[in-house]
Amino acid sequence: MTSKIQLRDVRQVFRVRGQGDRAAHDFVALDRLDLDVKQGEILTIVGPSGCGKSTVLDLVCGLTTPTAGSVDIGGKRVTGPGLDRGVVFQQYTLLPWRTALGNIDFALEAVGGRKKAERKQLARQYLELVGLTEFADRYPHELSGGMKQRVAIARSLSYQPQVLLMDEPFGALDAQTRERLQEELLQIWRRTGTTIVFITHDIEEAVFLGQRVAVMSTRPGRIVETINVVLDRTTDESDVRSSAQFAKYRHQIWEHLRQPVLSTAAQEEVHRVA
Ligand SMILES: Nc1ncnc2c1ncn2[C@@H]1O[C@H](COP(=O)(O)OP(=O)(O)OP(=O)(O)O)[C@@H](O)[C@H]1O
Ligand SMILES: [Mg+2]
Repeated sequence: MTSKIQLRDVRQVFRVRGQGDRAAHDFVALDRLDLDVKQGEILTIVGPSGCGKSTVLDLVCGLTTPTAGSVDIGGKRVTGPGLDRGVVFQQYTLLPWRTALGNIDFALEAVGGRKKAERKQLARQYLELVGLTEFADRYPHELSGGMKQRVAIARSLSYQPQVLLMDEPFGALDAQTRERLQEELLQIWRRTGTTIVFITHDIEEAVFLGQRVAVMSTRPGRIVETINVVLDRTTDESDVRSSAQFAKYRHQIWEHLRQPVLSTAAQEEVHRVA
C-alpha cells in the first residue's frame, strides 16, 4: 500500500540566537528522518521531550519547510498549510468569544462554500460526535479542559480533512479524562476512517491508540523503530490496557527509548558557527 504521508531523509536545522558568551549556532533538530503513514491508520509518534515530535508535525502541517528532504501527502509535496489536514494542539485553541458551536461554525465559515444553516447543522453533527450536544451554547471558559479538546477535535473533523494531526492533545488532562478521550477518539476514528497522526510522550497512550507506533530518538530526532501493535480489542477497552500483550508493547517501546541515542557522531552535528 502506498503511504498517505511520506517523509524522506528529512533534516531540520534551527538557527539558535547567541546569548552572553554563547555564539549563535545551528541546531540539528531532525536528521535523516523517514516516516510513512498509511491511508486510514492511526500512527502514534512517541519520544522524549525535545526529540522533535512537534517539529515533525509542523512539517506535515506545512507550517515549516524542511532544511533538506521531502514531505509528501497523497503523492503531492507539502508547500504550506491546507484544508486536507486538521490539527489539534496541546494548548487549547478555541476562540474565547465564540461558543462551542460558534467555534466549529467559525472554522466552517473560514473553509467557505457553505450557507449558514448548513454550517450550523454540520457543527451540531460534529458536536454530537464528540458527545457535547448539550454544551453547544457554552463558551470555552464554561467548559472543562476535556470538553475544550473535544470541541477542538470536532472543529478539526467538521471540514472533513483527509488527515488529522494531533500534538499531545490530551497532555494537560487528568488520567481519567485522558483515558476516556482516548477511547472516544478510537470510536470516532472507526466511524470516520480519517488518517490520524498522534503525538505523545506517553508510551501507554501510544500503544493504546496506535496501530503502529513510531519511536523517536533525540539529538538528532529520528525514527528509530516502528512497531506494529496488534491488540485483542474484542474485550472491554479498559481491559486492553491491563492485558499481557499491552504490557509487552509497553516494555518493547520503553527499551527502545532507554537505549543510548547520543552517538558521538550525532552530537557533533550540533554545529557551532562563529
Ligand atoms: N524555532 C526553533 N528554534 C530553535 N530551536 C527550536 C525551534 N523549534 C524547536 N527547536 C528545538 O528543536 C528541538 C525539538 O523541538 P520540538 O518542539 O519538536 O520537541 P518535542 O519532541 O515536540 O518536545 P515536547 O515533547 O517537549 O513537546 C528542541 O530541542 C527545541 O528546543
Ligand atoms: Mg512538542
